[in-house]
Amino acid sequence: MRKKVTIVGSGNVGATAAHWIASKELADVVLIDIVEGVPQGKGLDLLEAMPIEKRDSFVVGTQDYKDTANSDIVVITAGVPRKPGMSRDDLLNTNYNIMSNPLDAMAQAAYKLSGFPRERVIGMAGVLDSARFRVFIATELKVSVENVTAFVLGGHGDTMVPLPRYSTVAGIPITELIEPAALERLVQRTRDGGAEIVKYLKTGSAYYAPSAAVAEMVEAILKDKKKILPCAALLDGEYGIKGLYVGVPVKLGSKGIEQIIEIKLTPAEKAALDKSADSVKELVGVIGV
Ligand SMILES: NC(=O)c1ccc[n+]([C@@H]2O[C@H](COP(=O)([O-])OP(=O)(O)OC[C@H]3O[C@@H](n4cnc5c(N)ncnc54)[C@H](O)[C@@H]3O)[C@@H](O)[C@H]2O)c1
Repeated sequence: MRKKVTIVGSGNVGATAAHWIASKELADVVLIDIVEGVPQGKGLDLLEAMPIEKRDSFVVGTQDYKDTANSDIVVITAGVPRKPGMSRDDLLNTNYNIMSNPLDAMAQAAYKLSGFPRERVIGMAGVLDSARFRVFIATELKVSVENVTAFVLGGHGDTMVPLPRYSTVAGIPITELIEPAALERLVQRTRDGGAEIVKYLKTGSAYYAPSAAVAEMVEAILKDKKKILPCAALLDGEYGIKGLYVGVPVKLGSKGIEQIIEIKLTPAEKAALDKSADSVKELVGVIGV
């Protein structure tokens, strides 16, 4: 049986996620958007690329949720992206009515409104944030990005917690390879990674790396890979946090989140994670979910 992935929102992130998913032949894709014609046009255009790509993914665009029935995964990318000078949190009330950024609070809202169990409502941010960290580390050390693993915990915002201790190059902790001051510069650039791109683009925010991150999570679930990735998950006492979506390492497989991995944190790292969780809590309080 072919897998089916619905993508809600056919803007930059949604359409590019469809592109990655179809070009990797992970699933058939249904694109949906409120703007008439956009998902249909982008869907048909992408479908027509498939013979060239030698892929049999079927792609279709629609305004009708009937076409999304029996989807294995639904990716929500609908929303309004931020403009220069705006933080993700400035999008809170607008996007609560649509659902996307600020990611952790929106994941919490999607969890509450859907009634799904926590393993089936997963927020994408950590894969993107850690990919950015990996690029900055690889560029600094002039090594392949493939050699670099990096961990980023916490909310998808200014309080995110990149973890140099758990970030490695070919198994060597980066704390052994990069001086503390340089490391702090890379950590700060990772925190500001989204804003750096918003500043260049002026209208709109990043979408190639965000949509690639979506595709990695989709692949891990559809192929039951049991891949450990940093994702926003509802914590139920893990890391001493209860009832909040926070970015933590999870095992992704066919059931969704199959395990939340608890790693040991230093008191400073735990304090940074708590601060990050507090900022999610504040946003969740504003929208009352
Ligand atoms: N979590 C992350 O890491 C991350 C990364 C990048 C972007 N984002 C967020 O993703 C969202 C989309 O970003 P983008 O760059 O694709 O924006 P975009 O403006 O290019 O696309 C958004 C699309 O959503 C559609 N839309 C709006 N309301 C809808 C609804 N009710 N139903 C269906 N479609 C609807 C719009 O018509 C538009 O086509 C933004 O909110 C952005 O902040 C999150």
